[in-house]
Amino acid sequence: MTENPSRSPGRDATPDADQVDPDPVSDDDLFSTGDIFARRELLRVGHVPDRDRIVGRDNEMQQVGNALGPATHGDPPRNLVIFGKTGTGKSLVSRHICRRARGRAEANGVELLHAYVDCSDADTETRVVRDMTFQVRDEIDPDREIPIAGIGASEYYRYLWDLLDEIDVFVVILDEIDKLRDDQVLMQLSRAEESGKTNTFVGVISISNKIEYRERLNERINSSLQDRELTFHPYDAEQLRNILENRRDAFHDGVLSRDVIPRTSALAAREHGDARKAIDILFEAGALAEASGDGEVTSDHVDDAQQRTEVKRFQDLVSGSTPHVKYALRALALLTAQSEESETKMFSTSEIYSLYERLAERDDTKPLSHDRVYRLLKEQSFLGITESHLTGGGKGQGSYLAHRLMKEPEIVLEALGKGP
Ligand SMILES: Nc1ncnc2c1ncn2[C@@H]1O[C@H](COP(=O)(O)OP(=O)(O)OP(=O)(O)O)[C@@H](O)[C@H]1O
Ligand SMILES: [Mg+2]
Repeated sequence: MTENPSRSPGRDATPDADQVDPDPVSDDDLFSTGDIFARRELLRVGHVPDRDRIVGRDNEMQQVGNALGPATHGDPPRNLVIFGKTGTGKSLVSRHICRRARGRAEANGVELLHAYVDCSDADTETRVVRDMTFQVRDEIDPDREIPIAGIGASEYYRYLWDLLDEIDVFVVILDEIDKLRDDQVLMQLSRAEESGKTNTFVGVISISNKIEYRERLNERINSSLQDRELTFHPYDAEQLRNILENRRDAFHDGVLSRDVIPRTSALAAREHGDARKAIDILFEAGALAEASGDGEVTSDHVDDAQQRTEVKRFQDLVSGSTPHVKYALRALALLTAQSEESETKMFSTSEIYSLYERLAERDDTKPLSHDRVYRLLKEQSFLGITESHLTGGGKGQGSYLAHRLMKEPEIVLEALGKGP
């Protein structure tokens, strides 16, 4: 056999990948990042902006700084409760100031550590204390062996207090604190020093976006954890504009038409004042321009993006719902869309029910009883999907429950799609 046998036709039919003729699509094209985005990551959910990209929250940063100020000198920090709607910078600002406090403390020769616990993941006492313990362990003594499972809260506390004795101040951020299922961990933290468990000063920053739970939270949270309360308000158009301007470099030079950022900020400020959503709309607008091969992002892309993000959000909201909930919401959306009056018009359970029945039957689904649908609608209002009010009927009619959607009917209908 020769060293270099002539190849059989069979082999030619399946050539090695690197022996094919150069592909008509060049590598430049194949792996191009497009003409729109220069640094996509700046607009990603979860991207944490660095210090000079946090804008419009100077006052709030100052207040969190004031609470932690003493800690940077080795004194006890003040506890803080932060309220505010979603996307108003609560988590961002708290974490950022904790990091800075740590640097400042270090410069003063004080050992300050902080932990961040998301109580929507760690929603029991054991989970929270375990989470804190591991974060502290990783910082102070990464080689210390601590069981990941099989021990209870009290054992984790023992590890935690023991580790904390090596530092001066410990600050923990309990984010989404309304998701916490029991309060023991709050008691333990607030009494840690008093009860002689540790000599370290402990500070707690509690965060919640459930403003309506404020009273209940106030009852739950030991009063010593509420030295101060701080509210983060929704961003106004100008603040959103600054936030977005600061991320303009996510795009290539010159691709954003002049009115894109003002338009996005105005829409977001009008609807919610949520920075996360504003950033999301800007990203979607860019993605839409990219997908349609347009070289420029325009305010039309922004409007489409806004619609799309709303639809997506509504889909997420109802994704786990039963078909019956979807028929009822579709019924309400159709009634609203057909109504000559404004979108704030409310409809009685009976009006919704008769259309619901028809929609279900059209799909060969057996409708639920009037009473069940009434309860389903009430649940939707609890979830914030609809709003329900008792309305006084006319003379002798008594009062009845009326409902309206919290979103435009077009969005709801598009989100529900063709299915139930
Ligand atoms: N002042 C700001 N400057 C720059 N970016 C911001 C600002 N506020 C919020 N953002 C952006 O919006 C995102 C959401 O903010 P953050 O997570 O702090 O909101 P939140 O108030 O904690 O909301 P939630 O209640 O939903 O947890 C941040 O990750 C950041 O990208
Ligand atoms: Mg948050």
